[in-house]
Amino acid sequence: MKRLTLAIIIVSLFASCLPLEYSTPPAREALANRLLIFGASGRIGGHIVDEALIRGYRITAVSRDAPRLKDLADRVEVTTADILDRKRLAELVSQHDAIIVAVGGKPVDSNPENYIVPRAAGSLIDVLESGNSASVRLLFVGNVYTLIFEDNKTLLELGRVAESHPNYAMFHGHQLALDMFRRSRDVDWTVASPPNGLRLNGRTGDVRWGGEQLLRDEDGTPSTISPEDFAFAVLEELQRGNYIRRQFNAAR
Ligand SMILES: NC(=O)c1ccc[n+]([C@@H]2O[C@H](COP(=O)([O-])OP(=O)(O)OC[C@H]3O[C@@H](n4cnc5c(N)ncnc54)[C@H](OP(=O)(O)O)[C@@H]3O)[C@@H](O)[C@H]2O)c1
Repeated sequence: MKRLTLAIIIVSLFASCLPLEYSTPPAREALANRLLIFGASGRIGGHIVDEALIRGYRITAVSRDAPRLKDLADRVEVTTADILDRKRLAELVSQHDAIIVAVGGKPVDSNPENYIVPRAAGSLIDVLESGNSASVRLLFVGNVYTLIFEDNKTLLELGRVAESHPNYAMFHGHQLALDMFRRSRDVDWTVASPPNGLRLNGRTGDVRWGGEQLLRDEDGTPSTISPEDFAFAVLEELQRGNYIRRQFNAAR
């Protein structure tokens, strides 16, 4: 009996020494642990998986062909899904607290509406507005072409992308997706847009933050970042929530 009393006293003393957030974790924080990542087989999505692993998330990595993710299978759950399959998307979303989407690829034709990015945005908005997934946070990887470049205009608004450009549908497709998110009603979205490409290497965790205004270096050159630091910024934003229902860019 004496031993039991002593044990209770020790446990109570230990618990009272813990900071409040450790002794009684906020429900939202505890819930924000299960992360669904689309594009895990891609360049940016692969770095996002690595960064999420560093931060201890429970990850489900998605590919349209899960065996492509075999190198990750010992560290994360891998699954096959097409983001355009709304039924399957809804099933996955219902099992997670946050979604990070880094889908891309070559445009199928020159029509931006046919590009995977706005089609994926449409699918996500439909599912997230369906009612059952209202509290699920969404981070969606965007593109430099939707950031304010100069004169309060984006590169697209400045007419810097000719219709004959091979990536015309991709760049305009990102704008369509951003417009769709802006029009959405109940989606906790954030679009994370790399600034001037991903031209650096390595994870430093030393990033500068910008909203929609493209970040520039001291000499005025559009700034850049490494894929590792971009992934760092995406996961930081997931934790900080500074840009909910907004676009941001981050640079080294
Ligand atoms: N790479 C860059 O330098 C860069 C710079 C700025 C912005 N971005 C933007 O960042 C995004 C990702 O770029 P990335 O270079 O990482 O792309 P990536 O290497 O070409 O990978 C594309 C990813 O999209 C996934 N995907 C395509 N269609 C899908 C679908 N229907 N359902 C589920 N997944 C699908 C692919 O997965 P599976 O094939 O395995 O299904 C793949 O993992 C793009 O939107 C791109 O425009 C990229």
